[in-house]
Amino acid sequence: MDRKIHRYHEQAYQKMKASGICCWEKLLSPQNKDIDGKSKRFLKDVFPKSWFPKKGKVVELGCGTGPILRWVCKKGFSGLGVDVSKTAIYLAKQQTKEGNIHFKKADVCSDEIKKFGKFDVIIDGHCLHCIVSVTERRRFFKNASKLLSKDGILIIMTMCGPINKDEFIKICRNSKISNNILYSKMVKNNAYMPIRKILPWKNIVTEIKKAGLDILLSRYIKPYRGDPFGSLMIAATK
Ligand SMILES: C[S@@+](CC[C@H](N)C(=O)[O-])C[C@H]1O[C@@H](n2cnc3c(N)ncnc32)[C@H](O)[C@@H]1O
Repeated sequence: MDRKIHRYHEQAYQKMKASGICCWEKLLSPQNKDIDGKSKRFLKDVFPKSWFPKKGKVVELGCGTGPILRWVCKKGFSGLGVDVSKTAIYLAKQQTKEGNIHFKKADVCSDEIKKFGKFDVIIDGHCLHCIVSVTERRRFFKNASKLLSKDGILIIMTMCGPINKDEFIKICRNSKISNNILYSKMVKNNAYMPIRKILPWKNIVTEIKKAGLDILLSRYIKPYRGDPFGSLMIAATK
């Protein structure tokens, strides 16, 4: 199931490359900033915490074209961005001049990423909600835990439920939700393709705890300003 989503992302980045769109947020709306406000706020709140590493290595899982990673690395980290889309990685490399940031194409749920070493900070660049299957999500957390150095911090920034159903009906005309999976209708053949997992925030907290991680800071942002989905921001450690 997740392979289809990989293709969905790859096609989106090909469209971005062809039309000169720099990053995912701008694909959603040209008025958006490169990094969404909720994520930037959480990162800004987490950096000064005594338990947050002040330097070292950071990896962004699902880095896309790398706006979050470049911003984080300005704070003194060296960075690796990992994404399953080869066009995202191509665009990320094109947009990144800094010598301390590198990119690799890989599936973050695969064994391949274990060879990338240990990291002081791991950032979920809105990738977790793109992972739909239960098994793959377990692999995501297993890999994140494996990559985390001692005292390292995992940051999760993800869409979550409960969903504002009225707003969903109003806005997401070509989508449907079933079993916490968001499906989008494809223009080509009208078939519904699973694109996001929108679990209630409490279920995501359970997933994180089940993966053996301790939550240090959490923030649930309920749906607002016409957005049918909430957001969950978590900083956790092993
Ligand atoms: C919503 S986009 C966000 C991209 C980027 N972090 C940003 O903020 O611009 C999610 C990204 O996760 C990537 N992704 C989804 N599933 C993945 C997987 N299993 N392994 C690696 N990357 C994945 C997608 O290709 C996409 O670039």
